[in-house]
Amino acid sequence: MAAIAPSILAADFSRLGELVRICEEAGADRIHIDVMDGHFVPNLSMGAVVVEGLRPVTKLVLEVHLMVERPADYIAAFVEAGADTLIVHQEVLPTPIYVLHQIRALGKKVGMAINPSTSVESLAPYLAEIDLALCMTVVPGFGGQAYLSQSPERIAALAALIQQHNPKCELEVDGGIKLETAKLSVKAGANVLVAGSALFKSPLGLAAAIQEMSRETKG
Ligand code: DX5
Ligand code: ZN
Repeated sequence: MAAIAPSILAADFSRLGELVRICEEAGADRIHIDVMDGHFVPNLSMGAVVVEGLRPVTKLVLEVHLMVERPADYIAAFVEAGADTLIVHQEVLPTPIYVLHQIRALGKKVGMAINPSTSVESLAPYLAEIDLALCMTVVPGFGGQAYLSQSPERIAALAALIQQHNPKCELEVDGGIKLETAKLSVKAGANVLVAGSALFKSPLGLAAAIQEMSRETKG
């Protein structure tokens, strides 16, 4: 069964704590926190203070997706605030291994993400060093975008590389994930689904949307 990671970027921030509690009660597996710096992506979002605010609210893993140009500068602050997993982008790291080790040395899980325009093979040298590979299924920067059609092929290629280099590494997808694209992604080999709009803006309500996605993506 795929793990569900609600992305709070789509949440009503005036009710953030309450909504994260609902995610936990509905059976979400982790909370996905999108950090944007206005440079790596053309948008600003949230910083470590949001992680600090959510830490006492939930026992769920808090995973931080760092869409920033200089991730190394922020890792300590996010760990201090209570993050469990730090995901950095391959595109901004000339020598990724240092940052991956920096995260590991702080006792946290290590994730590495690639944009849709980055070759899946570029992750291969790092798969043995990471716990999670994030395949972006939209160009990062904004919630509510459409899932890119080339995604299943990329997910399948990444799944094959993971099998070869580190079968324990999780394969996460992020962007445009709703029921139909969640199923396509799982079929291609994804085992962690990040979803923002499809859950927080669902007409079913948040809890029912999480339960439905979880039920519908059982392997
Ligand atoms: C995109 C972010 C995503 C985003 C997903 O830049 O990394 O995590 O919140 O949002 P939806 O599910 O609405 O596409
Ligand atoms: Zn994200």
